[in-house]
Amino acid sequence: MQKYINKKLDNNKPEGFPKKIGGVMVYNPIWLAPLAGITFSSIRSFYKAMGVGLVHTEMISAVGLYRGGRKTKELLNGKEDEHPVALQLFASNSEDIVRGAEIALNIRKFDAIEVNMACPMPKVTKRGSGSKLLENPYEAANIIKKLKPFGLPVWSKIRIMPKKSNITTCDFCENLFTAGADYIFVHGRTAAEKYGGIASRNDVQEVALRFPGLIGGSGDCYTAENIIEYFDKGCSTVLAARGILRDAFLIPKTLKLLGCDVPTQFMDPDMDMQTELLLELGHSIYNTEGESSALMISRRMLAALFKGFPGVVQLRRRGALVRTWLEMEDLLINWKDILLQPEVQFTKERFPRGIVGEFE
Ligand SMILES: Cc1cc2nc3c(=O)[nH]c(=O)nc-3n(C[C@H](O)[C@H](O)[C@H](O)COP(=O)(O)O)c2cc1C
Repeated sequence: MQKYINKKLDNNKPEGFPKKIGGVMVYNPIWLAPLAGITFSSIRSFYKAMGVGLVHTEMISAVGLYRGGRKTKELLNGKEDEHPVALQLFASNSEDIVRGAEIALNIRKFDAIEVNMACPMPKVTKRGSGSKLLENPYEAANIIKKLKPFGLPVWSKIRIMPKKSNITTCDFCENLFTAGADYIFVHGRTAAEKYGGIASRNDVQEVALRFPGLIGGSGDCYTAENIIEYFDKGCSTVLAARGILRDAFLIPKTLKLLGCDVPTQFMDPDMDMQTELLLELGHSIYNTEGESSALMISRRMLAALFKGFPGVVQLRRRGALVRTWLEMEDLLINWKDILLQPEVQFTKERFPRGIVGEFE
């Protein structure tokens, strides 16, 4: 199974690398974003092998960690091969975050601690965490200051400020840097925009030009060109987020544009390679995180992997119907038979509620 992924893309470096960014030594500036429910251990290892320069945990509740939540602690799990890895925590105040960080760092080694000041979801903001901290610059800075004694680089991920805000994005960053922040990622959407609309690269550029070398960009990175645009705007790193699920080869394609020596099969992968890779990833998730995670990720990736191939709708629909990893494996192994079958007319009645909509 380790047929493709052992190409060691993870040591592939553009000119000027390896170098330290935000206090961490990295091989390249394309990093895996934190994605709740997605960037668990197997996904991090997979994309590390596909070439990302650094991976993030998903956001982890500091309060959940010190209240002893087993599920929360499991989010810290990871393999040795995924370093460098940034631990992302969320909390509304410095006391909680320090207690959470103490527990996390006793469990395993991380290369940086990052504070989530970007999540716009009500279950996070209603307790004063995530993007709610953008409205509380004093506590945001205090959190950074109190994390410094752990001795790791301290990072933050924020969103751009709305135009009517009484503090600009640049001033908010200045406040965090003064408190000791070593690096800041800026997502070019306001909290109110959540994940809709188009991320403003110009707003990210303004901050990147004000703090050279200290800003990473995020927002709408679906193609290699989208990612490169952030470098052109002055960012020193870019976070690949939803784009990695639409194109598993997004990272090698971007590394190639940055001048890395990427094997040609990664630039124009055939269907055998695509299915083998998805099987490899699915197996790993099944063995580590369990069946439901393996099915969730492989369904999402199946929808994207075969884009443009004839018969793909059929394959995706079958993917939506499978109920076990064994069935999914069977589908991925026998994709040729399915694609060559005459189109079966599926009706909504044949699908359990909610499944058709997931892919259409
Ligand atoms: C499903 C999902 C989960 C996310 N989870 C996190 C998270 O845990 N922490 C965080 O800082 N950002 C999180 N984000 C935001 C992404 O890291 C990224 O900033 C955002 O998706 C914009 O990039 P994109 O438009 O290229 O996807 C999440 C986004 C999505 C879609």
